[in-house]
Amino acid sequence: MSRIAVVPGSFDPVTLGHLDVIERSARIFDQIHVLVVHNPSKTALLPISQRVSLIQESIEEAGIRGDILVTSWSVGLLVDYATDVGASVLVKGIRSQVDVAYETPMAIVNRNLAGVETIFMLPDPAHAHVSSSLVRQVASLGGDVAPYVPKAVANYLEKARG
Ligand code: PNS
Repeated sequence: MSRIAVVPGSFDPVTLGHLDVIERSARIFDQIHVLVVHNPSKTALLPISQRVSLIQESIEEAGIRGDILVTSWSVGLLVDYATDVGASVLVKGIRSQVDVAYETPMAIVNRNLAGVETIFMLPDPAHAHVSSSLVRQVASLGGDVAPYVPKAVANYLEKARG
């Protein structure tokens, strides 16, 4: 039986921390779906289709191998997507106790809704302080985000700034 996992998130934009979780997940599972999901509680910077493209470029650029599908989901529950593609596991990166507190209720609800388990993965501590919201803020104020994001994202944000 092939083991399929979904790595969901806003990825607005994808960071080096996300990429680390994607790489590790691709090593563990037979197939992973990196799923860009709109989070209504966050103000978006990038359109969803752009986030998908940047993840794809970043995976290629980093030479990450494995059966990796990058797509988006905007209708219904995350677990509906997981069930549709035969995935029984979600993978979430955990940087701190704050992430544990944020992710735990969602993990329990997702298990109750559809029996989909959530695995919490510890990214490289080098990325523990990196978040998309921090990147959005630094970028919007004209700072250098290159240490926190894949090259494709840094280039995109640089060009978008004009
Ligand atoms: O990167 P984020 O913003 O922390 O990702 C959160 C996300 C998008 C994965 C979460 O908001 C989510 O799962 N949304 C899908 C809607 C859903 O299924 N909600 C009910 C169970 S939590």
